[in-house]
Amino acid sequence: MKISDESIREIKARIDIVDVIGDFVSLKKSGSSYKALSPFTNEKTPSFFVSPAKEIYKCFSSGKGGDAISFVMEMEGISYIEALTYLAKKYGIQIETKEETDEDIQRQNERDSIYIITNFANKYYIDTLWETKEGQSIGLTYFKERGFTDEVIRKFELGYSLDQWDAFYKEAIEKKYDESIIEKAGMIIKKDQKVYDRFRNRVIFPIHNLTGKPIAFGARILTNEKNKPKYVNSPETLIYHKSETLYGLYQARQAIRMNENCYLVEGYTDVIGLHLAGVENVVSSSGTSLTEGQIKLIKRYTDNITILFDGDEAGIKASIRGIDMILASGLNVRTVIFPDGEDPDSYARKIGSAEFKGYLESNVQDFISFKAELFARDALKDPIKKAQTIKDIVQSISKIPDPVLRSIYIKETSGKLRIDESVLIAELNKILIAERNKAKNLPPPLPDIELIEKSMDVQQEAVHEVEESIKLQEKESIRLLINYGLNKIEEEHHLYEFLLKELEDVEFQTPLYSEIYKIFKDQLKEGHIIDADYYIQNSPPEIKNEIIDLITQRYEISDNWGNKKIYVPKEEELLNRSAYENIIRLKHKIIKKLLDDNMKEMKRLKDDDEIERLQKVNIELNKIKVELGKKLGIIVGI
Ligand code: CTP
Ligand code: MN
Repeated sequence: MKISDESIREIKARIDIVDVIGDFVSLKKSGSSYKALSPFTNEKTPSFFVSPAKEIYKCFSSGKGGDAISFVMEMEGISYIEALTYLAKKYGIQIETKEETDEDIQRQNERDSIYIITNFANKYYIDTLWETKEGQSIGLTYFKERGFTDEVIRKFELGYSLDQWDAFYKEAIEKKYDESIIEKAGMIIKKDQKVYDRFRNRVIFPIHNLTGKPIAFGARILTNEKNKPKYVNSPETLIYHKSETLYGLYQARQAIRMNENCYLVEGYTDVIGLHLAGVENVVSSSGTSLTEGQIKLIKRYTDNITILFDGDEAGIKASIRGIDMILASGLNVRTVIFPDGEDPDSYARKIGSAEFKGYLESNVQDFISFKAELFARDALKDPIKKAQTIKDIVQSISKIPDPVLRSIYIKETSGKLRIDESVLIAELNKILIAERNKAKNLPPPLPDIELIEKSMDVQQEAVHEVEESIKLQEKESIRLLINYGLNKIEEEHHLYEFLLKELEDVEFQTPLYSEIYKIFKDQLKEGHIIDADYYIQNSPPEIKNEIIDLITQRYEISDNWGNKKIYVPKEEELLNRSAYENIIRLKHKIIKKLLDDNMKEMKRLKDDDEIERLQKVNIELNKIKVELGKKLGIIVGI
């Protein structure tokens, strides 16, 4: 296919990058640009930016970037021409193309060909439903009995497959489609040298990708025959990956963004049933629990998912396990449960649209409380079950990445199960620590706010301790500087050069040492490398006394590991190591303090964006701390 230069110009002129990317990602305005969670990675804090002025996007976590066209190509895994076609369709621009010949069709790569045959099949099944006698009398009648309107049947492009062995196959061959491609698209089955249509005598639910192209089909039987499967589905093909697809997402995505919530149901007919009831932000996982790929799809549009459960307790308990993974993705999970024997579709039909919407709103519950309540009944009676229930629920809570949310859920669960919060917190921390040990190379998890609150006294002490040890390390830096500043370390360098370089990004916390250090640097600028004598002759008493103290006494530097340094008489010989240790210890302590301050600040804040920012800082600081800790570990081990 070729698109004329004129059409390409027209498409480019119409593109609004925010609008284009906004179809895939939930963009939030941030200054003159927009930000979002990267659709290319599994990140939890947004590092994906769109600049409408520059007409570009940049994803800092994957490194990808470009214009609207390259974004669509990247996102959909499609070619430049396909991306242009997509954009033309989006903006209603007629594109001038070269007419496709049989030869062209042959030359298309397989993927393109499968798209084409799938699209042809879709149209064929739609036509069969609306235009043939059998389609009308059997297919349409079935849909009408289920209360489907013409509008919704058209919207979901529902179809019908005739009660014949190979009606579709014959039609496709007659239209000159390649047999091997028809097979690779999953439309036919070859057996004993015979060819059958995969879908026969069924109503057809096409599955669309995010650009609205049909990529697969689900076909429902119309009778109650026990020996035949209720649904026949397309196999995996080059264009259809079940685990990366959600039924109904194409029709739901605008509504999901607008409502900031995505309903999750089990089946095709539930999706359509909800649309009929006026609820359009709904997708289906086609009878299985959500995969990571599907969770990522939802996260492009919203952070909130509401799972609709059929009212059958055994079924609910069975499907609850898979939900921990959704929590771990950072999605907020809510649930609605329907009366026994009802699924969303049947219940919507039973009570009507307005009532149904009301039911959803008044019966929604966050997942953790839902789970706690579900098990509470058994647990309150039986102490053994109770212990298991606590473990189970705390396990779910531990999956939630946000520590503030975790602490809220601990509180709620404590109320529901009538268990002291501290018991739940202890259990939670056991799990968090176990996980941390499992993933040894990862930075430690964020400590729990709740926990800090509980042990505030200990914390205060710890903070005091950290400040004390920062002071000690600063003192040691200054001591080394004024006693041995001009000593050579390594071949060419003086100790003062090493210290000054290392302390470049360090701010002394203790005013006294900060002042002494400043005097040293100021003098250095003038070309003087000063020593203790200079201070003693030119400083106020406070500094003078300290300096005297520093040149006459050797301080013992304690550290958190409880190791004591063993001193060799000639300190000069070990300057290298002393200075290195001192600097790393100092930085390690400062980072600890910054972490404490950051955590306190986080606790004080109410604004989610601010908290999110501080969490990011927290993670960065923790990384540095771990790095420094490693270095210290090596030193201590010497
Ligand atoms: N499913 C399937 N194969 C089956 C049964 C179910 O693939 N034999 C999948 C389908 O995606 C189906 C979903 O599981 O949509 C849920 O199953 P079910 O509730 O039985 O189907 P519904 O689509 O809700 O159909 P109906 O309401 O007509 O029973
Ligand atoms: Mn159903």
